[in-house]
Amino acid sequence: MQTPVPDYLHEVLDSLREDNSGETAQYIPELANADPTPFALSITTATGSTYCAGDSDTPFSIQSISKPFAYAAAIMDRGLDHVLKTISVEASGEAFNELSLEDGTNRPKNPMINAGAIAAHSLLVGKDATAAARNQRVLDMFSSLAGRELSVDEDVYRSELTTADHNFAMAHMLRKFGILTDDVHEVVAGYTRQCSILVTVNDLSMMAATLANGGVQPVTRERIIDADTARQVMSVMAVAGMYDGAGDWLTRVGIPAKSGVSGGLVGVLPDQVGVAAFSPRLDSHGNSQRSRRIFERLSSDMDMHLF
Ligand code: DON
Repeated sequence: MQTPVPDYLHEVLDSLREDNSGETAQYIPELANADPTPFALSITTATGSTYCAGDSDTPFSIQSISKPFAYAAAIMDRGLDHVLKTISVEASGEAFNELSLEDGTNRPKNPMINAGAIAAHSLLVGKDATAAARNQRVLDMFSSLAGRELSVDEDVYRSELTTADHNFAMAHMLRKFGILTDDVHEVVAGYTRQCSILVTVNDLSMMAATLANGGVQPVTRERIIDADTARQVMSVMAVAGMYDGAGDWLTRVGIPAKSGVSGGLVGVLPDQVGVAAFSPRLDSHGNSQRSRRIFERLSSDMDMHLF
């Protein structure tokens, strides 16, 4: 059930509407041309009540917000030990599209940066899984998390794939180092498809609330992620979800979070709420400018800082 809470949530949005700084993601043509005006906020409690304001039914591609959830799937499909042998859990201190491999092991530093997320996608389902099976795994899992059938934005998918040379280059490096053993093209295409799944802020707050609720979807009551994996994912979001801004974010806002280049931002407060915001203009780290400010406001008004 989605219940609008007009006063406070609308007031938060209205107080930030005049901030038109930043621009939409320029390196993906379909996102560069996206309407920059939609603005939305949604909060879902760990008991399944959703409160939203603004353009909360406007769909957008999930982009990097897919990474924590696909990482959860990889852990459940392959076991944490195996996933840790492939992808580390350290802050990279670098931008999301840097290779950021760990000295000695050549593992990507974490699963929130592109290199780590490409590796995580390759681990889905099982050792000899087909590309189609990995794609289906992601779509089915995200649909269960959102509590409705999701779909892929084929235009965003094609648009990103035709300009994905940077991700292809990194995936080739991962293969050279033995981190990736599958076909590079299939894995990058699958990862790009994963990033192109369409969601609304209401979907994202429900997905985040499932993590907050220890892996049980708060409305359907289905266990989608086991409790240890949910904890692993929230911990990595705290360490690296905001890339090279992760330390500043955790100290100031104090909510484990994940951003995406289409303008979405989700946060998780364990046992309490999942929060999602959407506004397409990005700051210099590639995070949504207004969404970041929403979280700053909520954290301070409602004392949501974890510490
Ligand atoms: O791989 C990419 O570059 C995009 N599909 C996702 C990057 C992203 O969302 C970065 N987050 N702020």
